[in-house]
Amino acid sequence: MSTQTASVAEKKPTGGGPREFLSITDSRTGKVYELPIENGTVKALDLRQIKTGPEDFGLMTYDPAFMNTASCKSRITFIDGDKGILRYRGYPIDQLAEHSNYLEVAYLILNGELPNLAQYAAWADEITHHTMVHENIKDLMAGFRYDAHPMGMLVSTIGALSTFYPEAKHVHDPAVRRDQIVRLIAKIPTLAAFAYRHSQGLPYVYPENDLSYAGNFLQMMFKIGNYKVDPVLEQAMDVLFILHADHEQNCSTSAMRGIGSSEVDPYSAAAGAVGALYGPLHGGANEAVLRMLREIGSKDKIPQFIKECKESGGDVRLMGFGHRVYKNYDPRAKIIKKMADQVFEVTGRNPLLDIALELERIALSDEYFVKRKLYPNVDFYSGLIYQAMKFPVDMYPVLFAIGRMSGWLAQWQEMIQDKDQKIARPRQVYLGEGERPFVPMTSRK
Ligand code: ACO
Repeated sequence: MSTQTASVAEKKPTGGGPREFLSITDSRTGKVYELPIENGTVKALDLRQIKTGPEDFGLMTYDPAFMNTASCKSRITFIDGDKGILRYRGYPIDQLAEHSNYLEVAYLILNGELPNLAQYAAWADEITHHTMVHENIKDLMAGFRYDAHPMGMLVSTIGALSTFYPEAKHVHDPAVRRDQIVRLIAKIPTLAAFAYRHSQGLPYVYPENDLSYAGNFLQMMFKIGNYKVDPVLEQAMDVLFILHADHEQNCSTSAMRGIGSSEVDPYSAAAGAVGALYGPLHGGANEAVLRMLREIGSKDKIPQFIKECKESGGDVRLMGFGHRVYKNYDPRAKIIKKMADQVFEVTGRNPLLDIALELERIALSDEYFVKRKLYPNVDFYSGLIYQAMKFPVDMYPVLFAIGRMSGWLAQWQEMIQDKDQKIARPRQVYLGEGERPFVPMTSRK
C-alpha cells in the first residue's frame, strides 16, 4: 500500500501556529495524517477528514461518559487530581477557605478577579436584596406532598422562576444575564430553606438582610423562637459553600452547559443541573458514608469491613473514598476534616467521627487502597458535619446545590460567551437494524 500524507497535514502552519502534530496512519488506506496538537488535545473534527472514500462520513471518536474528551476551554477551575490540587481562578482552595467568604468566592468565580472593597460591598448588597421570592412560590410549594424530597422541590421551584422572569430568555444580553445570576445566587438558599420547612410542616422564615449569606440561610432553616445563628456554625456553612462552589466539568455542570447551549434561560438550565446533582453517584455520596459508618457501628468491626471491601471485587465500597479525578487526598476533605473539630465543639462530638478517623487510618495504610490511590474525598467528612448541625440527610444534596450555583452560572456564562460553542449535540455509533419494510400488525408473529 502506498503511503501518502493527506489533507489535515496540508494545514500544517508555516508561521506561528501549533508546532506539535500527531501522526496517524490509517491502516485501511495507508494514508498518513498529521493532526495539530494544541493545549494537549487534538480536535475531534480533524478526524472527520480521515475517510476510506468519498461516501465515508469520516472517523469519529467513541467516548461514552466523556472519559477523555474536553468539551470546552475554561478559565474557571483547575484540578490536578494526581497532586490533589484545586484552584478557583488560580487561587488555591485552602487559601480561599481560610481567608475568603462564599460571596467573595462567588464573585471571583463569576468575574475572574477578587473584588475590591467597593465591588464586594455592592455585590453583597445586591445579593442580600434579592433573597425574597415571589409569594406565589409559596403556593407552588404548598402543592407538594408533606414528605416531598427537598431536591425534587428545588428542581421545580428553580425551574418555575423562569416564569416569573420571562426576560431571562435574552441570554446574549449581558445585563439581563447578570440580573438572573444575582437572582439565582440570592434566591436558592430561600427556596432550599422553604423546601425544608415545608417537609417539617413549619412556617416559612423570611430572609433577614443584616445577616451573612450563610447566617441568613441557617436562620431561614432553623429559626424557632429566639434562635440565634452560632458564629462557628455560620463560618462552617460558609466554608462548605466555598468548597462546593465549582469543580469544573462534572455531571451537573455539564448538564448546565448542555441545556444552556440550547440558549434556554438559566433557570431552566439550573433546574436541570440540580436534577443531575440529585443522583446518588453525584450529590448523594455523603449520605451513603453515614449509612456505612452506622452499619459498621464500632471501631472493632472496622477490620472485618475492610476485609469485605477488599474481597468483594468492588461490590462493597468504602464510601467517601476514591474519586474519578483525585488520585491523592481530595484537598476539600482535608479542609473539612480540620473544620470538624471546631463544629463538634459547639454541637458535641459526633460519635461516628471516631469510626471515620480509624477507618481512614486503617485504609490509608492498607496496600489495597494505597495501590489503587484511594483517598478520602469531599464526602467522607461532610455528612458528619451536616448531621451534627442538625440537617436531615435529604438536605445534604440541597446544601451542595446552594454552593454549586455560582459555579454552574460561571460555567454557563463562559459557555454563552465562547465563540467555539454551539448547541451540544453528540454523535452516536448506530448498531441497530438496517432498513426494513413495515409489517402490518396482523402479519406479525
Ligand atoms: N472502596 C473500595 N474499592 C474501591 C473504591 C472504594 N471506595 N473505589 C474504587 N475502588 C476500587 C475498585 O473496585 C477498582 O478495583 P479493581 O482495580 O480491583 O477493579 C479500583 O478501585 C478502581 O475503581 P473504579 O470504580 O474503576 O474507579 P472510578 O474512578 O471509576 O470510581 C468512584 C470513582 C466512583 C468515586 C469510586 O471511587 C467510588 O465508588 N467511591 C465510593 C463512592 C464515593 O465516595 N463517591 C463520591 C465521589 S466524590 C463526589 O462525587 C462529589
